[in-house]
Amino acid sequence: MKQNVNDGNRVYVFDTTLRDGEQTGSTRMNADEKIQIARQLEILGVDVIEAGFPISSPEDYKAVELIAAEIKDPIICGLTRAIPEDIEVCGRALSKAKKPRIHTGIGVSDIHITGKFGDEKYGTTLDEKKETIIEMAVSAVGLAREYTDDVEFYAEDAGRADISYLLTVIEHAIDAGATTVNIPDTTGYSIPKQFGALIMTVRESVPNIGRAIISVHCHNDLGMAVANTLSGIENGAQQADGTINGIGERAGNAPIEEIVMALKTRKDYFNKETGINTKEIYRTCRLVSGITVPISPYKAVSGDNAHKHSSGIHVDGFLKKRETYQIMDKSDVGFPEDRESITLTSRTGRHGLGHRLEELGYEVSREELEEVYQRFLGIADSKKIVTDGDLEAIMEDRIAEQVPEVYKLDYVHASGGSEHIIPTATVRLIKDGEKEPQESADCGDGPIDAVYNTIDGITGIKIELVGYNISAVTKGKDAVGEVIVRIRNNGNVARGRGSSTDIIEASAFAYVNALNRLLYSI
Ligand code: KIV
Ligand code: ZN
Repeated sequence: MKQNVNDGNRVYVFDTTLRDGEQTGSTRMNADEKIQIARQLEILGVDVIEAGFPISSPEDYKAVELIAAEIKDPIICGLTRAIPEDIEVCGRALSKAKKPRIHTGIGVSDIHITGKFGDEKYGTTLDEKKETIIEMAVSAVGLAREYTDDVEFYAEDAGRADISYLLTVIEHAIDAGATTVNIPDTTGYSIPKQFGALIMTVRESVPNIGRAIISVHCHNDLGMAVANTLSGIENGAQQADGTINGIGERAGNAPIEEIVMALKTRKDYFNKETGINTKEIYRTCRLVSGITVPISPYKAVSGDNAHKHSSGIHVDGFLKKRETYQIMDKSDVGFPEDRESITLTSRTGRHGLGHRLEELGYEVSREELEEVYQRFLGIADSKKIVTDGDLEAIMEDRIAEQVPEVYKLDYVHASGGSEHIIPTATVRLIKDGEKEPQESADCGDGPIDAVYNTIDGITGIKIELVGYNISAVTKGKDAVGEVIVRIRNNGNVARGRGSSTDIIEASAFAYVNALNRLLYSI
């Protein structure tokens, strides 16, 4: 969509994940990773992708060139300093772009001017240097316009600049042909009210501002990047810069997903629209975090914990009516539906536990729930977070208690070992209701196989062993081993568990346990 200065309700999203976002060691990406992210940003629906800073390295040049050639929907932008060579290289890197934009600019605060332009070739006094900066800005924009009619000018460190000088620079940049003017709070120094007032001043006092879109670009050094961006939007900015997950220099940039969800969730307040398909947020955030740095579980909008509840009062309220404790629906930001909304801890309460058991497919009566809840509390006290696997184990143990012991292991012995000895086993089982135990012997591929063949012989039931797992539950030479087996007969599957310091015995217990469960279920 072409950006329109007269569309006051539309906020354009300018993504700089691939440029400002990767401007730090831990977030470096290669050209392949950048193109993957660019594809996803297109699906997400950003208006502008800042693909890189082409003169900064051959890898960056290549990434901008590749993205410009492939990605057609969003505007593809490259960054430059107000230096002719930067602009020429950027123009070349963008030559295949359907909608190219050159983003050029220069530092405008006194700190930047005296620090970066201290050399006398820029002037001997601050005023002379300021004049030089304006000339450099004007010629940079003019040169960029020779490559594209979409030129964005950034007034670096605007957040700390002398306001009247900033206004003059912006006016000159627009006169020179800038179609977007970017007001960066480069050092994250601004306070929302003050930053909003700055944008309002730009809007009201720059005479030719009607010819350009105002953009805001906020850093997060004081944790106010999103608040400053929103304040800028409230005061007339039509473009918001940011990165996915807020990655970037120092404390990062404004996270796009948070800006977008703030505008969407508080549409009643901002009355603004973006072109973002919010259902793609989760996927985009995970892609970027997989390639760069992990997301904190508590990060707004995209963190793992951002849409979860755990305390009893919240879980209860949420289950009765989602909106009680949620202002966003996790599916609106693309969280998979099967992602649990409840973290089970000792504070979760019966309602939350019952809900999760139901989601896992267990039907429990009120009395049963009370019993399960007490066991759940025991685990929660020792483990903090109770997983689905823990709940399944509780439920299986309960089922196991109800299973009648049709067969009971009375004796087992097996031998095997060296090459020439055929593994054999002797097993004695007691069958419920029968006076005499049944004893038999058989051989197999190993001692455990021999035990299982012998048991099959006694029961007359042909069992297929579909899973066998052994693990140590205690440490040391006399460690207790736990065996879990899965057996199948005529399409019915059952699991059994057995433990002993002797692995042959543990294996036999597990097999007989699974056999009893199988008989109970058919
Ligand atoms: O923070 C900043 O000032 C920038 C500009 C290059 C837009 O990233
Ligand atoms: Zn920046």
